[in-house]
Amino acid sequence: MSITINGSTAKLPHDPRVSLLDLLREHLHLPGVKKGCDQGACGACTVLVDGGERILSCLALAVQYEGRSITSIEGIAAKGVLHPLQQAFIEHDGFQCGYCTPGQICSAIGMAEELRRCVPSQVTEDLSAPTIQLTPDEVRERMSGNLCRCGAYNGIVAAITENFAGAAK
Ligand code: FES
Ligand code: FES
Repeated sequence: MSITINGSTAKLPHDPRVSLLDLLREHLHLPGVKKGCDQGACGACTVLVDGGERILSCLALAVQYEGRSITSIEGIAAKGVLHPLQQAFIEHDGFQCGYCTPGQICSAIGMAEELRRCVPSQVTEDLSAPTIQLTPDEVRERMSGNLCRCGAYNGIVAAITENFAGAAK
């Protein structure tokens, strides 16, 4: 039984009770994935499945993702070059301690995929529109599952809004 992590094949643990988060952090030594609450409430552990679907790895069993491709923050930068969203976080001061940042970035990339598929949010006004504009209110609502204990929200929203403003087009 195997799983692909950031482009490399890894063995799944024999113990089916191991969470995807613990597989990444404890077994594969990828500390970029953060354990905040370990119960689905903070978003710090967010990773991407098959390139675009965002999930909370603390609520997922590793064996559930056999044969799937997982991307953690360690796999976001291409060949040492920061993803444009990572650069935007730096330019907009989108973090202080940085503990929530890996989850914020993975979650925002997944959010942009949802926007491309025109998945509405609680604050989307026109459900029949062919595209959804990524306003700051849309960002706040769609990223509300990712908490930042430092309160760096203004920079986070600015970075995501700037980077994905054209995501729905
Ligand atoms: S550690 Fe997974 S949501 Fe908080
Ligand atoms: S930057 Fe510290 S928790 Fe978000």
